Amino acid sequence: MFSSDSFPLLGGESPALQSVLRSASLVAATDATALITGESGTGKELLAGGVHQVSRRYAGPWVPVNCAALPSELVEAELFGYWKGAFTGADRDTPGFVHQAQNGTLFLDEIAELTLSGQGKLLRFLEAGECQRLGSGRAEKLDVRIIAATHQDLSALAAQGRFRSDLFYRLNVIPLGLPALRERTGDIQLLLEHFREALAVRHGVTAPVFAPSVLKRFSRYSWPGNVRELKNLVERCVVLMAGQTIEAHDIPDGWLADASATEDQLGMELPAEGVRLESVEVSLIQQALARTGGNRSRTAELLGVTRDTLVYRLRKYGFR
Ligand SMILES: Nc1ncnc2c1ncn2[C@@H]1O[C@H](COP(=O)(O)OP(=O)(O)OP(=O)(O)O)[C@@H](O)[C@H]1O
Ligand SMILES: [Mg+2]
Repeated sequence: MFSSDSFPLLGGESPALQSVLRSASLVAATDATALITGESGTGKELLAGGVHQVSRRYAGPWVPVNCAALPSELVEAELFGYWKGAFTGADRDTPGFVHQAQNGTLFLDEIAELTLSGQGKLLRFLEAGECQRLGSGRAEKLDVRIIAATHQDLSALAAQGRFRSDLFYRLNVIPLGLPALRERTGDIQLLLEHFREALAVRHGVTAPVFAPSVLKRFSRYSWPGNVRELKNLVERCVVLMAGQTIEAHDIPDGWLADASATEDQLGMELPAEGVRLESVEVSLIQQALARTGGNRSRTAELLGVTRDTLVYRLRKYGFR
C-alpha cells in the first residue's frame, strides 16, 4: 500500500511517517493550529494540503503563503489587510490573506521568516480569532485554521530571541515532525515504484525498471533534498532512460546532490599500510572501460568526470 487512507498523496509505511499521519488525521478532525516541521522536501506542504482536504473545511479556501516572500514592510498589510488611507498608497480597502482564507485554511510556510511585528499580530489573531486591519482599531471575527511550517528549529530560534517564544508555544500545540528520508530508507522502494509509474504516465513513456542495485545505492545515500530529490531523480531516469533497466552504475554521481556522501559509503576502506592512489585510479578506469566495452563517454559518466578529463587521464596513464 502506497499511503494511508486519509492522506493518499503521502507515500510511506515507515512507523515514523505513519505516526505523523495518525496525528495529522486527528488534527484534521478539529480546528486546532498545527506546526509542521521537517527538512526541505520532506512533504510539509503536501501534508498541510492533505490536512485541509480531509478537514471539515475542505470546500473552503486553501491559502498558502510563503512568509519568506513577503516584503517586510508589507507583511502586516498582506496578511491582515488594510483600510483605505491606512498608509501612503492604500487607496482602497483591501482584505488580507486571513480574509481570503475565511472558512478555510491559511498555510503559513517558512514561518521562521515572519517579521517580529508580523509574529505579534499573528499571535493576537490566534489567541482572539480576531483580525485588525491596518488603519483601524475595529476587530473582525474570522474563522480560519492556521497551519504553519518550517524547516528550521523554531525552539532554538525562540531561545536565541529570533522568534517569539509565546508564538512558538501557541503554534506548537500539535507538532507534526516529518522524518527525513534517510531516517526511513524502508520507504524508498515504495516511493521509487510510485514515482516511476506516475511519472512515466505523466510523460507518456514506458517506465524504466530499477534493478535491485539501484535500491541498494539509494538506501545508502543521505538524500539531503529528501523526497523531492528522489522524485526529481526518478523523473530524470524516466525521461532519459525510458523503458530501460537501470543499474546503480547507470546513474551518474552528479545526479545525486551529495555524491561525496555516497563515495564515503562505497565500502572502500583505506588499508593500514596505505595505497598508491595512481594504482587505484588506473584500476577503476580499467574496470569502467571493461564494463562499458571501451565506450569512453559511458566510462567517463561511470567515473563522474567529463570525457575530456577521462581522455587526459588515459593518455597520462598510457592507455591506448
Ligand atoms: N511522502 C511523500 N509521498 C509522495 N510525494 C512526496 C512525499 N513527500 C514529498 N513528496 C513530494 O516531494 C515534493 C516536495 O514536497 P513538499 O513541497 O511538500 O516539501 P516541503 O517539505 O514543503 O519542502 P520545502 O521545505 O523545500 O518547502 C513534492 O513534489 C511532493 O509531492
Ligand atoms: Mg514547502
